[in-house]
Amino acid sequence: MKTYNVLTIFPEMIDAVFKQGVISKAVDKGIVSINSVNIRDYAEGRHLVTDDYQYGGGAGLVMKVEPIYEAVSALKEKSDTFVVLLDPRGKKFDQKAAEHMASNYDNITFICGRYEGVDERVRELVVDMELSLGDFILTGGEFAAITVIDSIARLVPGVLGDEASADEESFTTGMLEYPHYTRPVEYKGLSVPEVLMNGNHSEIEKWRMEKAIEITRKNRPDLLNIKELDIETRKKLCAEQKRGLSKKLKLNVALMHYPMKDKQGDTVATAITNLDLHDISRSCRTYSVENYYVVTPIVAQREIASRVINHWMGGFGSTYNPNRMEAFSHTMLMDSLSEAVLDIEKRHKKRPLIVATTARPDRATITAKYLGVISEEQPVLIIFGTGWGFADEVLETADYILEPIEGVGEFNHLSVRSAVAILLDRITEI
Ligand SMILES: C[S@@+](CC[C@H](N)C(=O)[O-])C[C@H]1O[C@@H](n2cnc3c(N)ncnc32)[C@H](O)[C@@H]1O
Repeated sequence: MKTYNVLTIFPEMIDAVFKQGVISKAVDKGIVSINSVNIRDYAEGRHLVTDDYQYGGGAGLVMKVEPIYEAVSALKEKSDTFVVLLDPRGKKFDQKAAEHMASNYDNITFICGRYEGVDERVRELVVDMELSLGDFILTGGEFAAITVIDSIARLVPGVLGDEASADEESFTTGMLEYPHYTRPVEYKGLSVPEVLMNGNHSEIEKWRMEKAIEITRKNRPDLLNIKELDIETRKKLCAEQKRGLSKKLKLNVALMHYPMKDKQGDTVATAITNLDLHDISRSCRTYSVENYYVVTPIVAQREIASRVINHWMGGFGSTYNPNRMEAFSHTMLMDSLSEAVLDIEKRHKKRPLIVATTARPDRATITAKYLGVISEEQPVLIIFGTGWGFADEVLETADYILEPIEGVGEFNHLSVRSAVAILLDRITEI
């Protein structure tokens, strides 16, 4: 049997809640025991005081340490118990924590704070773990204890009628759950999806998986940590993600060779490099960028670059390495930034947002994640610089400046091709 003790100044609250529902049946069957303990029973003096003013001043009372310490000691005399303090300062409670607590502890004691919370020494003397329900403040720990006990107790074998129903819930699978329907088939013009009624189990499973991904992506993209998903789900998610990206994002990349700054701050044209041509083309194809524009007004430079591209697109390179041909298939040489902008405008009948990149965090006006969101609605041209950075007039034409990659140390000198790859990955991250 699992035992859950609740230390509170309002034991009636706990008793009232667990009188109904599935957990009360488990209590009747002797699978779970829920004991409310009145902290006041362990208070001393004529008035049985459980709270007092706080040292240092400030509004609000604090729950005294002695009655809580005595109450926990009395419980520990009967049996060993794991002590949890419900508190907004604690670790955030989630399904994983519920699973851990359900299977690892037979006896748990929950301490419910009130007012400003408990005297700090309660933590030091008796608490094994601090748990918070989330980033909000309740009037008392009872609401948190009830929630935590409910979610732990339902995982105890024998508590839920159909054991499988605990396995497929939201969070257990690493995603939010798919939609459910019951009778009637139609209500106020809304019908149960056909696929759920045709009895084809593999189609039902596929539909449910797709819906779970769609709902999780929309409401809780932070949960889509694919490392935690099983292989099948992961494969499906990756395929869905790829389809979504190639369909939705209207990203374009330009590598600017003019007007750039040199070391002295003068405006110059920089040279195209073979490495940037290849590697940025490859990154852009990998992340389904619409077009990669290589921008230079120097005709001789464009000629050299075009010889390289032609070698891989139509020459010996195209049969030697067809992947490289694919990588270059969306690489275009442009004489100026406005020519690249015009090309995008023609395709989308809309001017693209111009997003400049910089190594300086103080100039940034947009995050990579947000850029990913707006590029679903609107074509975007991200411009990358060469040499010692863009001439000021280029930055003036930009609608946004993208947050830079900051690395972890003092040194921060990525090659532009590395920066393109890292930023594309951040922008397209779901
Ligand atoms: C008004 S709150 C105290 C808040 C505290 N002064 C603070 O700012 O962190 C009173 C009691 O409610 C409970 N409580 C409030 N919010 C909670 C949460 N998010 N998770 C768990 N318990 C919470 C705790 O037991 C707490 O001692």
